[in-house]
Amino acid sequence: MKYEEYDLNDLSLPRAERNAALRWLRDNDPVHWDAKNDLWLLTRHEDVRHLAKDHERFTNGPGGPWHSFETEAGSIENMDGERHIRTRNLISRGFTPRMVSDFEPLARQYIDGAIDAVLEKGSCDLVADLAVPVPSRVISHMLGIADADLDTFSDWCGNIMEGIGAEPGCERERRSLKSAAQMWQHLAAAIEQRRITPGEDILSTLMQAREEGGFGDEDSLATEELLNFAMLLVMGGNETTRNAISGGMLALFEHPDELERLRADRGLMPTAVDEILRWTTVVRALRRWVAADTEFEGTKLRAGQSVVMSFTSANHDERVFDDPDSFEIDRTPNEHLTFGFGAHRCMGANLARMEIAVALDRILDRLPDLRLAPSGAVVRGESALSETILSVPLEF
Ligand code: HEM
Repeated sequence: MKYEEYDLNDLSLPRAERNAALRWLRDNDPVHWDAKNDLWLLTRHEDVRHLAKDHERFTNGPGGPWHSFETEAGSIENMDGERHIRTRNLISRGFTPRMVSDFEPLARQYIDGAIDAVLEKGSCDLVADLAVPVPSRVISHMLGIADADLDTFSDWCGNIMEGIGAEPGCERERRSLKSAAQMWQHLAAAIEQRRITPGEDILSTLMQAREEGGFGDEDSLATEELLNFAMLLVMGGNETTRNAISGGMLALFEHPDELERLRADRGLMPTAVDEILRWTTVVRALRRWVAADTEFEGTKLRAGQSVVMSFTSANHDERVFDDPDSFEIDRTPNEHLTFGFGAHRCMGANLARMEIAVALDRILDRLPDLRLAPSGAVVRGESALSETILSVPLEF
């Protein structure tokens, strides 16, 4: 393959080949024009940070991070300027730092329940049995979604993610759009129900905030914004964290010395979690739009063009990380961009860190001889946006 022709939507590219292409681009063409996908691709850590911070010249809206599964009202990640600040402030009311410590015992309870369910079997699937339960139950608890609907939600999330970057009109995209519509309807009904009977969940908190004069100017738009936000939480807070837990365990299995170090010294957990976040970079890339004709690092960009920031590449940039292709659970400093950068930086970063730490800690404690099943193959999902792991057979 010619590295100049790197196509970030080409999921058939072997991992080593993709990483080699990104390295070549970092060194030779850091502001790269991808003619096939009609976008600029940034691959250096420093450039990604500059772009993500420059909200005047590079905007988030319109459209989703990649292609849109949301309506025109957009969600917080499509908003700019004052509207974004106002919405982010509102959402912070349901997203307090205390929430992380409040959720910790729940996360522990969820992972312990998941381990109890497989303990007698001697085998399990890393994704379905161990990585899914904590983030999906935490997010459902936040949104007040019933346990009975968890599996359906999980299927919808998977389908939606797989449609991102797919050829328009193909089966993968059709399935994705159908699942988005179904999730949308389900959440709309949940919001309607909270209107009648408010609860302790984040939707009720945000509806309350709206009553006090936030969220949108008209009621219909406001409801749509709220729905888009709920969709973002389900997608952004669930799938991402699950893939980080699966990818983290997989990285530890592939680096047995690091696994043993972490097993012996849980004081390493905070740095291990950040190294897992860097290593897995579960959100591969995100997009911004050029607001007006401008120049970026000597390259002329035109108004309306899109610029994609490759977090995968930035997190392997030799200019920032010593020996970036090695997995080191005590890596310090570790300025990975897995949660993005600037005003839109992930609001759930500390919640996700806590969930990953709790899940790993309990798995290491309670399944001390957990290992990859000899016959089992790792099944990965197809998504240009997200690093997705679907199944990893384990035994113990
Ligand atoms: C490993 C897990 C996670 C990863 C890798 C991740 C990654 C990201 C990224 C890359 C962004 C966009 C940042 C940007 O545009 O600069 C983002 C935004 C966001 N994330 Fe996360 N996320 C994770 C977990 C969560 C969780 C658990 C929640 C909530 C329950 C959450 C809520 C949000 C919200 C609300 C935004 C929008 C912020 C804004 O636009 O101002 N995320 N996340």
